[in-house]
Amino acid sequence: MRSSFLALPVLMAMAVPLQAADVPITPQHQGMAAHGHGAMVSPDSRELVAFPLEMRAQQLRNMRDHMEALDGILTELGEANYDAAARIATDRLGLDSPSAAACKPKLPGAAPAKGSMDEMMDLYMPEGMRSIGLAMHTAASKFAAVVRDTAKSGDTRAAYAALGQVTHNCAACHSAYRLQ
Ligand code: HEC
Repeated sequence: MRSSFLALPVLMAMAVPLQAADVPITPQHQGMAAHGHGAMVSPDSRELVAFPLEMRAQQLRNMRDHMEALDGILTELGEANYDAAARIATDRLGLDSPSAAACKPKLPGAAPAKGSMDEMMDLYMPEGMRSIGLAMHTAASKFAAVVRDTAKSGDTRAAYAALGQVTHNCAACHSAYRLQ
């Protein structure tokens, strides 16, 4: 009798954690709980940009080219080929590269050609995404100018800092937007 009376508070104490775990689990909770185990990714809070299929494929092709360009730039920097790094940045990432067309502000009243990829981008790309894109292309052109000077000055730190401004915008856009 005496021992079971003593056991009661012990049982109650043991029950507490069970009760705490028994709260309804929302999808958000599930994500957070599973995150620690690496079994599931946490809920995705990025804005979904509903590009038509063809345009999504084009955007992702551009993206893979951006990655290759970045890879090429770092390889050239590692071999102290500063002019070659500048050329890649100008041709494939800079403001005058083909991929920058959709991010550049249009002249007032200038309508993009009907049915062109530019027109589609105009219709579907959120303004915030476009401005991050423009910032990335601008930073790439600036990097090209800085890294050209590196050949003379030997100041590689300035080149890496300028390249960091490029990747900073890659990362900013990726954490805010998704296509699928
Ligand atoms: C203005 C926005 C924006 C900028 C700037 C940007 N990206 Fe992206 N990128 C995206 C979006 C949106 C996706 C699709 C992500 C998703 O749906 O999960 C993407 C996807 C990618 C992918 C995956 C491609 C595939 O085939 O799945 C790579 C690689 C990539 N980006 C590289 C880069 C690099 C490198 C830079 C910078 C030099 C960059 N991106 C800059 C928006 C951007």
